[in-house]
Amino acid sequence: MKLFEPLTIRGMVVKNRIVMPAMQLVLGLRNRRVRAYYLERAQGGAGTIIMSATSVDLFIDDEAWGRPDGVAKFIESMKSFTEEIREAGARIGIQLWHGNQLPAGSGMLNVTSGDLIAPSAIANMREATVSEIRSITHKFSSASEKAKESGFDFIEFHGAHGYLLCQFFSGADNKRKDEYGGDIYGRMRFGLEVVKTTRQAVGDDFPIFYRIGAEEKRAGGITLRQSKLFAAELEKAGVDVFDVSIGSDPSRRASPTKRAKMGTFVHLADAIKQNVKVPVIAVGRINTPEVADLILTQGKADLVVIGRQLIADPLWPRKVKEGRFEEIVACESCNTCFRPMLSGKWKPGDPICKVNERAGREVDIPAQE
Ligand SMILES: Cc1cc2nc3c(=O)[nH]c(=O)nc-3n(C[C@H](O)[C@H](O)[C@H](O)COP(=O)(O)O)c2cc1C
Repeated sequence: MKLFEPLTIRGMVVKNRIVMPAMQLVLGLRNRRVRAYYLERAQGGAGTIIMSATSVDLFIDDEAWGRPDGVAKFIESMKSFTEEIREAGARIGIQLWHGNQLPAGSGMLNVTSGDLIAPSAIANMREATVSEIRSITHKFSSASEKAKESGFDFIEFHGAHGYLLCQFFSGADNKRKDEYGGDIYGRMRFGLEVVKTTRQAVGDDFPIFYRIGAEEKRAGGITLRQSKLFAAELEKAGVDVFDVSIGSDPSRRASPTKRAKMGTFVHLADAIKQNVKVPVIAVGRINTPEVADLILTQGKADLVVIGRQLIADPLWPRKVKEGRFEEIVACESCNTCFRPMLSGKWKPGDPICKVNERAGREVDIPAQE
């Protein structure tokens, strides 16, 4: 199967085409629970693992941890974590994200306090100043350098799902009249500067992935035509892989339910792929070996995201490779796994997945095998 062909990305060899995407399960960042969760997926055969959306501030600002040695402790812990995952045969990256909050402290996904900024005044956010934009650009590149120092094999910028980078590119959210807005070239500027600055900071031997919000079905939102142009420019700026998802879309979820067909966003990856030379990842309910391999053999993408299906069954890659298809525990796309993020009552150790009681609880419940 093409699914198990290796691929080289800026010198980094990944053993197969299976990418476990960033999925925030609120397990924390440096504890036994979160380590066991990722390690089991590395041992299960995922070639590339992307640690969930993590605030840039956590790599550079002790204030985000609320303690003077927060960053140093985090980096130290990540060094042994990344080594452990690599030893299990996977490549490990981290998704860097900005939660619209200043000055720091946007460590957690659920932003509850602080000054919230956006390209333009939307909802409870105010317009970011140019000096704030430049400072955030620097945060992305500094955090990338620190991620490299922490032993990550690559980083991914979260430029999708309506977060800051995505908002700057979206005509629906970015109404600025200055150089960071106006037309599409202005709206691309922030993302391009983030990538260019980072490329300079991390050097030539460190892959940069970009999760691009390729389309938004809303008035003034991102069109595929625009994102194809953006991708080509990002590639010139130094992006090595495009992870193609959607932007902020009232009618569609980035994690589609059963009602969406399998591979529901693959056409977006296919379109981006036609405009860039670097590898492209397809995303969106790619749950079966047949669908995953077909996307690759048809040349629609070079890699596939297996997201919730790896929460449901961490051994999916191994079972597929060994032809044990009937042993796969199928993901129901029920989105129970969003509970940790969305339910105020959930706490680590509570169940995460309807079909896999061990997900996120690997340290509590022994494996059956
Ligand atoms: C619980 C949960 C948390 C997620 N957190 C993130 C995240 O931190 N960053 C991100 O880019 N996407 C996030 N996603 C979206 C996934 O990375 C993926 O794009 C989406 O689930 C579609 O893939 P799938 O159908 O294979 O699950 C999350 C999805 C889930 C289910």
